[in-house]
Amino acid sequence: MGSTHTQTGGHGGPERFGPYDHTDLDGSGVIPLPIMGGAKEAVNYPTTREAWKMFPVETVRYVDGSIRGQRLLVGGNSVMEEWERPVEERTIRQIFTYISVYRPTILIGGEGLGYATAAAIAEARDRDGAVIHIVELHPEIIREGQERANALLKKMSTEQRATIKLYWHEADMKDILQDRKIFPDDSIDGARIDLYPLEPEEKDIDSFVHAEALLRIMKPTGVYAPFVGEEDLPQAKQLAFIEGRFLNKDYTYVYVTPPKDCTYFQGRRMIVMVCRTPIKDLPRAN
Ligand SMILES: C[S@@+](CC[C@H](N)C(=O)[O-])C[C@H]1O[C@@H](n2cnc3c(N)ncnc32)[C@H](O)[C@@H]1O
Repeated sequence: MGSTHTQTGGHGGPERFGPYDHTDLDGSGVIPLPIMGGAKEAVNYPTTREAWKMFPVETVRYVDGSIRGQRLLVGGNSVMEEWERPVEERTIRQIFTYISVYRPTILIGGEGLGYATAAAIAEARDRDGAVIHIVELHPEIIREGQERANALLKKMSTEQRATIKLYWHEADMKDILQDRKIFPDDSIDGARIDLYPLEPEEKDIDSFVHAEALLRIMKPTGVYAPFVGEEDLPQAKQLAFIEGRFLNKDYTYVYVTPPKDCTYFQGRRMIVMVCRTPIKDLPRAN
């Protein structure tokens, strides 16, 4: 019997965090076709935020039979891959499903390949507008994101374009969420946070560690969707950040086709978690 080995931890559970095995994934005995543009071993794993910003950014193609797509490498670490696009699109759709305010304010944490940003722009267009904040640490990735977004906006009418406001922040999420001028209390309707573990302590929880800071900036009706990166359920250590902070959470699943050389996920479906009703009024340590 073949094993379905799922390496958890989302974008980049790189080699240093554990062995990766993609032998005979489905038990079919089929030898994988040659893969192009495979992610290298994470020999360049960053030790600081500053190091991350200096890493070269490269978008390569992966090819695994009929499974093809683009892969974003930062310093050789695979950070985002095209097979995840449906996950991002579903997540953004779920977030918007719960938002009933006119021209909501949305926060995208982590630009990556811009799938979440593109989906948010499309929702904004269909709903007569939105304010979208994008926070991204890497200067090159933010530049590419701006180009992609501008290309999308150019395809719209002048009237549509005028209803969509994009704010690009080249910053670390952990710093910018403390900035009350940029993010006042009760200002965010929906947040998609999908980052990358920049230190080993953040593995699996890089998109969850901001839950506490989000409570301040989210409206009481706000919706928060962190990247889970699991096939079935969030990990206990992920849920620990949600418990006592959000009253409701719901799950949907998206079927995915990661190529065999994906270093961080080999499952066939991926969970989308949406957290609602931030518990804003409890006394807290900070
Ligand atoms: C997995 S990608 C995001 C993918 C994105 N959701 C999409 O749809 O393409 C993670 C991104 O988060 C950025 N990032 C990681 N840690 C960060 C942090 N602490 N603050 C801001 N950006 C961060 C990375 O540079 C990378 O571009």
